[in-house]
Amino acid sequence: MENRRLYVQCRAATMQSGAKAYGLIEDCAIAVSEGRVVWTGAQESLPAEYAQFTQEDLGGRLVTPALIDCHTHLIFSGNRAREFEMRLGGASYEEIARAGGGIISTVKATRGASFDDLVTQSLRRLDALIGEGVAVVEIKSGYGLTIEDEMRMLRVARHLETLRPVKIVTTWLAAHAVPPEYKGRADAYLDEVVIAGLKQAHGEGLVDAVDGFCEQIGFSAAQIERVFIAARDLGLPVKLHAEQLSDQKGAILTGKYQGLSADHLEYLAPEDVPAFATSGVVAVLLPGAYYTLNETQLPPVDALRQHGVVMAIATDCNPGTSPISSILTAMNMACTQFAMTPEEALAGTTRNAAKVLGLLGEYGVIAPGARAELAVWNVDYPAELSYWMGGAPLHHRITHKAAL
Ligand code: NIG
Ligand code: FE
Repeated sequence: MENRRLYVQCRAATMQSGAKAYGLIEDCAIAVSEGRVVWTGAQESLPAEYAQFTQEDLGGRLVTPALIDCHTHLIFSGNRAREFEMRLGGASYEEIARAGGGIISTVKATRGASFDDLVTQSLRRLDALIGEGVAVVEIKSGYGLTIEDEMRMLRVARHLETLRPVKIVTTWLAAHAVPPEYKGRADAYLDEVVIAGLKQAHGEGLVDAVDGFCEQIGFSAAQIERVFIAARDLGLPVKLHAEQLSDQKGAILTGKYQGLSADHLEYLAPEDVPAFATSGVVAVLLPGAYYTLNETQLPPVDALRQHGVVMAIATDCNPGTSPISSILTAMNMACTQFAMTPEEALAGTTRNAAKVLGLLGEYGVIAPGARAELAVWNVDYPAELSYWMGGAPLHHRITHKAAL
C-alpha cells in the first residue's frame, strides 16, 4: 500500500479552476494513488475505499499545490553585480547592453564554464526554489548563442531533473541576443544558429518550447515570426519576451501562433488587450525584472483582468534583470507593485503557471487526476504566502516523483 497515501488533518487551498477563495477545504483529506490525487474533500465525507490508505497527519497545516516557476533563465555562470552598480550610477539596461555588457557578458561567462560548473552554480538556485515549495521549473537556453552551447545549456537543464525531485521544462531561447561573431548579421544568425540549432536540439529531445526576445536590443517581430514558423513546422509551442522595454506588438504576434504565453508586457498597449485576450495566450508577469530595472511603466493588469486574460507570475531568475531565486518574493512583488491580489498571485504560480507549460490539470491544482505534488506550509492563511518576505514558510514538500 506504499503507493497509496491518505493525507489528513490539513486545510487545502486546492486552486481548482472556477473555485472561489482559493478553493479552500477545511479539515481536508487528500487520497493519493500511484502518484496522483484520486479524491479530495472534507475528511468527514471520505469514501470508505480510501480509509485503508496509509495515513499521514499534516498537523492542521495549510497545503497548496506545489508551486511552479514558469519563466527562468537559471542556468548561467557568474553574475552581473558590476552592472547593478552601473545602473545605480545612472546607466540604463539598454545602454549597458549596447556597450557589450548585458546578456553578452553572461554569454561569455557561460560559454567558458564547464558542464559540471554550470550544474553546480545552477543547482544552488534550483535548490532555493525547491526550498520554497517549487516542483516544476521552466528553464531557458539563451546564454550560449552557438548551437553547441545552447544545446549544452538544455542538457544541463535535463540533467538537473535527474538530481532533484522536480520537473524541468526546457525552452529554446537562442533568439535572445545576436552574439558578437554575428554582429550586424542578425538574419544569418537566425538561419544558421537559431533555426538550424532548433532542429538539431529538437531531434535530440532537448526542447519543449521556443522563445525569443522581441525588442530593439533583441529581434524584430518579423525576425521572431521566422523563428515561430520554424517552431510550428516542428510541432513545438511558442512563447515570447514581449513588450518588456518597448511596444513591438510581440504579444499579438504570439497570439497569431497560438502561443503558450507572452511574458513581461509592461509596454503592452491597453488598446491591444482585447485582441490579445481572444488569443488565449497567458500573460506571464515578471515583477522581479520590473523591480530590478527600476521600471515605472506598469503592465496593464486591470485591462488584462477585465478581459479575462489568464495571468501567471514567475521569477524570471537571471543575472541581469532579475537576480531572484525566490518564487514567494515574486508573488509578494506581484501584489505590492502590480496590485494583483494574493489569490491571483497564488493562481499565477500554480494553476495558471501549469497552463503556460502545457501542464494544465497535471500540476498546479489539488484535484482528482492531478499529480500529487504538494507544498505544506507553516502558515494558516494562503495570503500569507504573498505577505511575508523571507522567513522560510515551507514546512515540507510532498512529492511522488521517484526521489533519487
Ligand atoms: O527576461 N530580456 C531578456 N531576457 C531576460 C534578461 C536576460 C539578461 O539580462 O541576462 C529577461 O529580463
Ligand atoms: Fe526572461
